[in-house]
Amino acid sequence: MAGIYKEAIFEGKVAFIAGGSSGINLRIAQRLAELGARVSIISRSEDKVQAAVDSIVSVGGTAFGQSADVRDPEAVAKALHATAEQYDEIDILVSGAAGNFVATALDMSPNAFKTVVDIDLLGTFNVLRIGFEHLRKPGASIINISAGQAFVPMIGQSHVGSAKAGVDMLTKNLAMEWGPSGVRVNSIVPGPIEDTEGMARLASNEKIKQAFKQTVPLRRYGSKDEIADLAVFLSSDAAAYITGAIVVCDGGQTLCGSGGVNVG
Ligand code: NAP
Ligand code: COA
Repeated sequence: MAGIYKEAIFEGKVAFIAGGSSGINLRIAQRLAELGARVSIISRSEDKVQAAVDSIVSVGGTAFGQSADVRDPEAVAKALHATAEQYDEIDILVSGAAGNFVATALDMSPNAFKTVVDIDLLGTFNVLRIGFEHLRKPGASIINISAGQAFVPMIGQSHVGSAKAGVDMLTKNLAMEWGPSGVRVNSIVPGPIEDTEGMARLASNEKIKQAFKQTVPLRRYGSKDEIADLAVFLSSDAAAYITGAIVVCDGGQTLCGSGGVNVG
């Protein structure tokens, strides 16, 4: 078993992963399940959700999934309610559903900009606001998945940067509002991660991929396992005093601005 922990530190815990059917978020779901959590996954595509659940159950984990769009508060409420009914109150809530495409502001309609804000920012509000009712308190951990675009501008990413900056501010505000209930709220900021839809969209050819690597002090993409390990740490007792933190895991990329990479 890869990862920072080997024993089942999440035995008896319940994790809900919004946008957990692929990529980074699926790796987080799989890792939480490997460590004993019962995992509930939502995303829009029923087929992707089923495949994600199968990937966990086939190796002995406990998972179930539902199709739900984070832009639809009723669908989110239904999925959260079903999770609490099926398993128990939720200990670990991850909000990672996101949409991205490369387009400059002038190449975007108002609806294009709004679509990404609706998924990333309003979707995160829905998951957290409705999810709060189902959290086991005190002790629950919430993790929002942000991106470096939240604080480093990048051409072709005004929609994502605006939405993720909002996500990070939501992290800080809700950490303050919910701290007295014993609920921690943190953001993870992944850098460029290998073998993901996000980087397939941002670095659509080898030349841009190499340019991205040059903007990273460690000179490589990160792995999904490296982000999953950080999510494990933030969800664990070892992070019991960490809340409102925007935790960057990017090989140092955001130290360097956008490094002149122009994905547009
Ligand atoms: P991904 O595989 O496309 O993951 C996005 C997930 O969100 C999918 O499971 C998708 O499934 C779901 N989703 C999208 N729209 C949704 C909606 N409206 N309602 C519910 N679920 C929805 O991409 P990824 O690259 O791994 O990205 C995962 C997270 O990491 C995102 O928050 C992204 O912003 C962040 N991130 C990624 C990178 C990177 O290098 N890849 C870097 C920084 C940050 P459905 O299509 O079934 O809905
Ligand atoms: N450039 C400019 N505008 C674009 C675009 C692009 N490449 N792709 C989509 N849009 C616009 C559409 O034209 C539409 O605007 P309009 O109604 O004014 O024409 C708007 O965005 C919404 O598009 P639609 O396809 O209806 O949205 P959707 O809700 O079905 O899908 C997306 C959302 C567009 C974000 C889609 O790419 C998606 O589902 N992504 C999820 C996976 C992902 O992005 N993973 C990486 C995460 S980092």
